[in-house]
Amino acid sequence: MKETEDIEIELASLREQINFHNYRYYILDDPEISDAEYDRLFRRLLAIEERHPELVVLESPSQRVGAPVEGGFKPFKHSTPMLSLENGFSDKEVKDFEDRIKRLLKSSEPMSYTVEPKMDGLAVELVYEGSILRVGATRGDGYTGEDITSNIKTIRSIPLRLFPPQDGRDLPERLAVRGEVYMEKKAFQRLNKEREKRGEPAFANPRNAAAGSVRQLDPEITAQRPLLFFSYGIGEAVGWDFNSHIELLTTLNAWGLRVNTRYIKKCENSDEAIAHCHYLESIEHDLPYEIDGAVIKVNTINLQKALGEKSRSPRWALAYKFKPTQSTTKIVEIDVQVGRTGALTPVALLEPVEVGGVTVSRATLHNQEEIERKDIREGDTVIVQRAGDVIPEVVKVVTSKRSGREKPFVMPDRCPVCGSELISRDTEVILRCSNPECPAQVNRGIKHFVSKEAMDIDGLGDKLVDQLIDKGLIKDASDIYHLRIENLLPLEKMAEKLATNILDAVNRSKSTTLPKFIYSLGIRHVGEHVARVLAKQFRNFENLRRASSEELVSIGEIGPEIADSIVSYLSNEENLSLINRLFAAGITIEEMPLEEVPLKEHPFSGKSLVLTGTLSTQTRPEAKKLILEKGGKIATSLSSKTDFLVVGASPGSKLAKAADLGVRILSEEEFLSMLREET
Ligand code: IVH
Repeated sequence: MKETEDIEIELASLREQINFHNYRYYILDDPEISDAEYDRLFRRLLAIEERHPELVVLESPSQRVGAPVEGGFKPFKHSTPMLSLENGFSDKEVKDFEDRIKRLLKSSEPMSYTVEPKMDGLAVELVYEGSILRVGATRGDGYTGEDITSNIKTIRSIPLRLFPPQDGRDLPERLAVRGEVYMEKKAFQRLNKEREKRGEPAFANPRNAAAGSVRQLDPEITAQRPLLFFSYGIGEAVGWDFNSHIELLTTLNAWGLRVNTRYIKKCENSDEAIAHCHYLESIEHDLPYEIDGAVIKVNTINLQKALGEKSRSPRWALAYKFKPTQSTTKIVEIDVQVGRTGALTPVALLEPVEVGGVTVSRATLHNQEEIERKDIREGDTVIVQRAGDVIPEVVKVVTSKRSGREKPFVMPDRCPVCGSELISRDTEVILRCSNPECPAQVNRGIKHFVSKEAMDIDGLGDKLVDQLIDKGLIKDASDIYHLRIENLLPLEKMAEKLATNILDAVNRSKSTTLPKFIYSLGIRHVGEHVARVLAKQFRNFENLRRASSEELVSIGEIGPEIADSIVSYLSNEENLSLINRLFAAGITIEEMPLEEVPLKEHPFSGKSLVLTGTLSTQTRPEAKKLILEKGGKIATSLSSKTDFLVVGASPGSKLAKAADLGVRILSEEEFLSMLREET
């Protein structure tokens, strides 16, 4: 008896010591003991636990890597919604933000703010009950995320157990910590190199790498990924009140959570807040991790409460987005790409150049009209810019660098891939290949089909799809379901384990949901949002297949253009035969209560928008496409029914008319920021 007691005491002491040294190492970045000493403690803990499995507890530091999750992640409902942030793009927008706040609070007192780096990672919630970490979950649609507890536990900078408060009080009964899981730039590059060696597809950026890592079904894999965590707020803290955001962050830090104390600053007024945003922007590229802006938050919690929130963002916070970064380089050649819907896009192949920490070797030129407007020629020296996730683009030509040998560009008069005739629909400036069987369209269509948001076939990356098509192993999406291991093994960079994993993923994808299936077909104008709207309305695929244009238009968010595109897709024999082959290959659409299809309104859904003037970041057809995908409608003339007028450079008379009619006017920046809001 005595012996067990001694062992329990020793175990408790070992766990406490290990937790403390973890904290020194991962949270404070200031270890007190050597790695060897730490390892000794850890090995002693493991040895005792091995001899006494009955004494192992969930929060023991030995329990970070658990068993694989069977049957996918379970949904997890957040106790309070995980909101997003409104974006601001200039100092003036920070001032506007402050004016709005002061108006709402009827106050003219100076306001204090906190300004923090906006981490470009993956938002997660950690739920602690008392001191113990119970759940780690993704943001999901803001209301319900996925329970990724077993993966979260593998992240060493996330404590499995919190320290008790210094003042002797108890920890909150329940604490929902919010923060960002991310990967440092160097670790990301190292990981990609290793993946390339193993023939696995590289991650596009550290954020994708972090997101991909926490969504692994096997925590062993997550455990090997160099993930880190910073907390930036809470959802709830039952039984605790905080006076200010700074106090909240300091307290979280004292309880053992990692906080970006080095760069978070309390600012006494908006000028100071703006100055700290500028400072963070100036060091953006020197930081070891990616940030995509700064977050300004009202510091006083009571004021935050008084301000409250809108449907998807709090009124007391603003994301200050950094300016896109630009660099100068040369256009080697202009190439023409054929997309999934046959659209031809001219692309500038560049001499590789670093733009804000990322090497860029291609930039979109949108279409012939854009090329003419900017007078872009092969051989030109140009300024390219990259803003966040957006595909890099050419801002302008440095004409002073012209030698006279630059070649003007003309779009081809036939499809550069299959030689078919080109068509241009409606009033679009976009040229399209008229051949639905064009290899380029088929290739893009298959890549869309397997993508994460569509059928989500993990491991079937772009390069692999290219190989499968080149070798004649797949001609359309349904062929994927007939692939066998002996088809995969001879491919480049393939290994038995990888091939088995891919085939498993192919198999898993057979059971899908209606919104994903509809989206995966790649029907023009049917983005994720419209696919969800359709799924909710029609409930099963057969109903959708039989829907008429009128029926479709009668749904609030579907305009005539989307309706026509759907009807035309679903009346095409080739498409129907593909769909039949998919079902014959074993695709089943999981019955899910459609109330559970996450569908929150986008600010543009069901709204009527008119565009005027020239947009600087995209062409009209591109803007139109994005609006349609969010469920909005485009009108050509203003009326009292118009909801928004989007104003580009040199707007016409519409601007004054909109003001008369009381139509809400959106600057290009506001328009972009609203487009980016998630649904
Ligand atoms: S506060 C209610 N602070 O940005 C306020 N968010 O666009 C919620 N993010 O989903 C967020 N760093 O994942 C906040 N210091 C920070 C952040 C931050 C990154 C992310 C977060 C959120 C997204 C909103």
